[in-house]
Order: sequence, then C-alpha cells, then structure tokens
Amino acid sequence: ETGYFTYDPGFTSTAACDSAITYIDGDEGVLLHRGYAIADLAENCDFLEVCHLLLNGELPNPQQKSDFERTITYHTMVHEQLAKFYSGFRRDAHPMAIMCGVVGALSAFYHDSTDIFDPVQRKIAAHRLIAKMPTMAAMAHKYTVGEPFMYPRNDLTYAENFLYMTFGTPCEEWTVDPVLSEAMDKIFILHADHEQNASTSTVRLAGSSHANPFACIASGIAALWGPAHGGANEAVLKMLEEISSVDRIPEFVRRAKDKNDSFRLMGFGHRVYKNYDPRAKIMRETCYQVLDRLGIQDEPHLAIAMELERIALSDEYFIEKKLYPNVDFYSGIILKAMGFPTSMFTVLFALARTVGWISQWKEMIEDPAQKIGRPRQLFTGNPARPFVPLDKR
Ligand code: SDX
Repeated sequence: ETGYFTYDPGFTSTAACDSAITYIDGDEGVLLHRGYAIADLAENCDFLEVCHLLLNGELPNPQQKSDFERTITYHTMVHEQLAKFYSGFRRDAHPMAIMCGVVGALSAFYHDSTDIFDPVQRKIAAHRLIAKMPTMAAMAHKYTVGEPFMYPRNDLTYAENFLYMTFGTPCEEWTVDPVLSEAMDKIFILHADHEQNASTSTVRLAGSSHANPFACIASGIAALWGPAHGGANEAVLKMLEEISSVDRIPEFVRRAKDKNDSFRLMGFGHRVYKNYDPRAKIMRETCYQVLDRLGIQDEPHLAIAMELERIALSDEYFIEKKLYPNVDFYSGIILKAMGFPTSMFTVLFALARTVGWISQWKEMIEDPAQKIGRPRQLFTGNPARPFVPLDKR
C-alpha cells in the first residue's frame, strides 16, 4: 500500500484511488457518470451539460446551463502568440504531436490559472482547457493541411464551432449541418470520461506532484496516443483498410488468435469491459445516422466492420476471452465519413476526454488526503555485490 497504488505484480488491477465521477461495471457493460447512464446522457444532453455534470457533480439547471455555455464560449479564443507556436512544426507533423506540444506549453501563456491551490485559478484552468481544446485541435488540422486558422465564433454551439473551425474557410459561408453537429456532440459525450484508464491515471499521477493543470493534461494526451488506448480509433481504420474485403476477415481473425502473431483486432477487447462496451452500441447507431445523412451507401469500411463483429462475436476464442467491440470500433468510420483525416481521430478523443481528465484532476487536488503518487516495484535485478574495477572486468 503506497497510499496511491495497491501493489499488484502484473499491475493489472486498477490503481487504488477513490473517485465519485464515473462508475463502470465491466461484466454488465454499465457506464455511469455521476450516477447517470451513458445512454441517457448521450440521448438527452449536449456535451457542455455533461461537462458541467463531470466537473461540478450535477446536471445544470437552465440558468446554470446558460451561464456555463457563456463562460466556455468566451474562453474559446487562444492567445495570438500561441498561433505562432504552430509554425515551429513541420507541416507533416502528426496532429497529436502538435497537441502534446501546444497543450504542454499553455502554462507559458496563461500564468494566471496555474496556481493549483487557488480554487478560482483551478476553475479558470478547467474552463480554459475545455473551451480551447476544439480551437487548438482545429488549428492542428488546419496547420497540417495548409489552410488558414479559423477564429471561433460565439454564435455557434461547442460542436458546431469545432466543425466550423475545422472545415470552414474564409472564402465561403459555412452552414451548420444539425445532424453532423449533433453526431459530433454525441461522439464527444461518449469519450468524455472513463474511470481510471491509462491516460486518466497518467493525469492523476502527474497532478499528484502538483504540476500545473496544463502540463498534466498534456501528459494525458501523450498517454492516450498509444494504439492500445486512444490511438485505437486511427488503428481500426488502418486495420479495416488492410483487411480490405469481407472475404479476407477469417485470415485476420485467425491472426488475432495466434499468440505468435502480434496482430490484434483493433477496436476489440478492453481491460475492464467483459461485455459489450455501452458506448460502442451508441456509436454504431450514430454511424448509421451519419452515413444516412451523408447519403453514403455501402460504406466499405462499415461492411467489413459489421461482418468482422458478426464473425468475432460467434468465434469461441473471442467468446472465451470476452472480447467485444469497444468505443473505438465504429468511431473511426463516422469520423472518416465526416471528412476528418485518420490522423485527427485521436485528437478528437483527446478533445472530448479533456473534461474527464480535468474533472478527475480537480477531484484529486481537492482531496485533503491527497499524496504524491509513488508506485513501488517487485525488484528482479542483482542483489548487492562487490564492485569490480575497470581493469578487472
Ligand atoms: C480504450 O481503459 C479504458 O477505459 C480505455 C478506454 C477509455 O475510454 O479510456 O476505454 C479507451 O483505450 C479502448 C481500448 C482501445 N484499444 C484497442 O481497441 C486495441 C485492441 N485491444 C487490445 O489491444 C486489448 O484488448 C486492450 C489493450 C484494450 C486490453 O488488453 P488486455 O488488458 O491484454 O486485455 P485482456 O487482459 O482482457 O485480454 C484477455 C485476452 C489476452 O489473451 P491471454 O493473455 O488471456 O491469452 O484476450 C487477448 C489478450 O491477449 N486479447 C486480444 C485482443 N484484446 C485482448 N486478442 C486479440 N485481439 C484483441 N483485440
């Protein structure tokens, strides 16, 4: 017991930390945020309502909702000098590399919200991060495609603004597509928080040293990038493209079962869910709605994904190992159909997960019993031994 992690040789159990934000029952496929089921939130709320819930513990009443929306809206612009930061990257930089750098540098631009012991500064930092992530994410995309940055607009909702800054240009009017904005908003909700996953645990560990909140969120972005975690949505699309046709699925399912083959079915399996990820079901329905709205028939990736899901869920290996589609399995198909390059998929995950990271960080910092995280190890190296001088080695 180190007061933070309960020692576990395989490090396979979750770290021991208290939290009241998100509850997961992996066997039943249940996900609750502050007691509300993810399906109810995805169906009835917008993303900023869920942000208010995660951050403050309650869904907002109409006045609180309007106040929170105004606060976030008026934090969406970024420091003008920050725009110059982007020009230090190559144009072909991965947008996640840009986000790691830019978010990590935010404390250099917003000194007045880095004192973690000041509740007002903590609140401003949380609002700035939630508000500016869409702007910075859209800027990362614009920078890599060589288009001008778009300033946020205060007349748009959170999801509309992000789509506008990503796909709008100064050359023509941009019109809101309510179906796509609603789908974007729902995708953000589905990614908002997920208990003590790898990136959230990274944010907590970084925060336990009392690093500034911007640096802690940047550490979460770095951890999320891995294809075993948030990078899986990009990896799913690459996998579906590699499979390339329904009749090649059995070959890949066989490879996924072969312990000597490093290939894994991306978008399948989960450390906690041993049942269907409740987010994946909603994501699949959203996928159908977006493809229908865009008039896309017979989307090739979707056909392969659905057949892959059907085959995998009837295969004894996947049944025995309790491997089901997770949140990343369908999200990439939607995002690609909406026009996002695959390199932006994990950036969107990080954008949405920022509220979860900062809510968990706030919960930890405000816990009077909070101590610095200090995981221990099972030492497997040499016991103490006498020194051997160079001429004797
Ligand atoms: C996310 O933690 C979170 O909450 C994360 C997340 C969030 O919202 O923050 O939900 C987001 O990261 C979702 C996961 C995205 N990653 C992927 O889709 C990548 C593909 N999935 C695998 O890499 C894997 O399932 C992990 C990394 C997600 C989990 O790996 P584990 O911890 O090894 O899974 P497990 O212990 O349940 O595995 C049981 C068995 C193992 O075999 P054995 O050692 O028992 O012989 O199933 C095997 C695994 O090797 N297995 C797979 C597999 N996933 C697990 N075999 C083939 N294909 C797979 N996808």
